[in-house]
Amino acid sequence: MSWYEIFPTVSTSFIALSAILVAIGWRLILLGKREAHQKVMLAGAVAAVLFFLIYVSRTVFVGNTEWGGPDNLKTLYTIFLIFHIVLAMVAAVFGITTLTLAFRQSFAKHRRWGRVTAVIWFITAITGITVYVLLYLLYPGGHTKPVINAIFGI
Ligand code: HEM
Repeated sequence: MSWYEIFPTVSTSFIALSAILVAIGWRLILLGKREAHQKVMLAGAVAAVLFFLIYVSRTVFVGNTEWGGPDNLKTLYTIFLIFHIVLAMVAAVFGITTLTLAFRQSFAKHRRWGRVTAVIWFITAITGITVYVLLYLLYPGGHTKPVINAIFGI
């Protein structure tokens, strides 16, 4: 496996791990285990931050990978990728709000935001893993280049 593949593999694993921790954390609060919920959700947030740091470092130092599959799927892939990126940014804002509400002990609001945050994060993880599968497993062979070029296929 080359450096071009190691970064995305590690960062995608962190998204998956983070989503699994959020699912476990949700189950724990439904079982009334507040302290365990807090610990597992914080671990989920750390995994999400690690994903983000690895993703940003890769974008800066290596670049992003452009579509390597059939031309007729390129537009669909680009729309899907932009959807995933927007969702990830929304998830980050919701995640920070959910955590802030928890630490301010505004638990009624935290509960409402938390449910939305968790669902958005699950969809972000699923779409992120799909992008990884499309780009590195199903249709490998795209070149690596700076992020803006890769997104718009320039
Ligand atoms: C981003 C991280 C977090 C997410 C996504 C999250 C998500 C959630 C969700 C979905 C619920 C509602 C469960 C339901 O009723 O369906 C909830 C409740 C709760 N969370 Fe979190 N949580 C996070 C972090 C935290 C932290 C750090 C704390 C502690 C400081 C905390 C304390 C609580 C408590 C006490 C409740 C129960 C509220 C109530 O009974 O009204 N959560 N959280």
